[in-house]
Amino acid sequence: MDFNGKTVLVTGAASGIGNACAKGFAAAGAKVILSDINAEGGEAAAAQLPGAVFMQMDVTSRDEANALAARIEGEIGGLDVLVNAAGWDIIEPFMKNTPEYWEKIMALNFMGPVQLTRAVLPMLIDAKDGGRIVNVASDAGRVGSFGETVYAGAKGGVIAFTKSLAREMTRNGVRVNCICPGPTDTPLFATQSEKMQVALTNAIPMKRLGQPSEVADGVLFFASDRASFVTGQVLSVSGGLTMVD
Ligand code: NAI
Repeated sequence: MDFNGKTVLVTGAASGIGNACAKGFAAAGAKVILSDINAEGGEAAAAQLPGAVFMQMDVTSRDEANALAARIEGEIGGLDVLVNAAGWDIIEPFMKNTPEYWEKIMALNFMGPVQLTRAVLPMLIDAKDGGRIVNVASDAGRVGSFGETVYAGAKGGVIAFTKSLAREMTRNGVRVNCICPGPTDTPLFATQSEKMQVALTNAIPMKRLGQPSEVADGVLFFASDRASFVTGQVLSVSGGLTMVD
């Protein structure tokens, strides 16, 4: 897959899956804009990739999403690919959730991708070979997940948003697809209890965690010309955890 001449924006790029996506796109020749709320981690990650830049943003802020889009247009002049990878979760029973937890889950995992997508869409519509959006949802959003009730709702929303936007954007030449990781070996996964980590790993038919680079491979495929006739699709990268029609 060749991304020479393409500019790619990845959120959540300081860590885990977003970072693996940034590395994958840079290795394939893209100019990568790494974005994250974590400036120190993001700057360090960008410094390791040829031609990459870091631009800080909190995806829960619509003002910051709009400012990031304006900065990219002003400093770089356009965008070809958006990867919405930033996300967050804590596994706990729904009956223990606070309203503040619900609000954070929805703001970060659902409204974040929605408002950043809207902010950068004019650039993607203008992209020479057609813009591409890849959203990182979760298998939780396809089949539900114990202890991730509202997160699953947010990720299910990302899946439905992907499909609906894909329909609307065909006339603008923008393809929109969605990757659903299963349990993946990232700092986010490491925040879950050891008991939960073992249970989740054992539930995977392949009996191991996914690697962030394996998820990134799916993201790169959707963003590449190899997927030129693919839009509105959802791909699980989860060792067979879910097998959805
Ligand atoms: P991670 O915690 O390793 O990386 C997430 C990144 O997002 C971090 O760099 C963090 O600083 C950034 N971030 C957090 N809040 C932010 C905000 N408000 N604005 C901007 N950036 C923010 O997590 P991981 O595991 O790499 O997750 C990436 C995506 O994959 C998320 O959307 C997550 O929901 C999804 N996912 C992860 C799974 C896993 O097992 N690791 C399973 C299924 C989905």
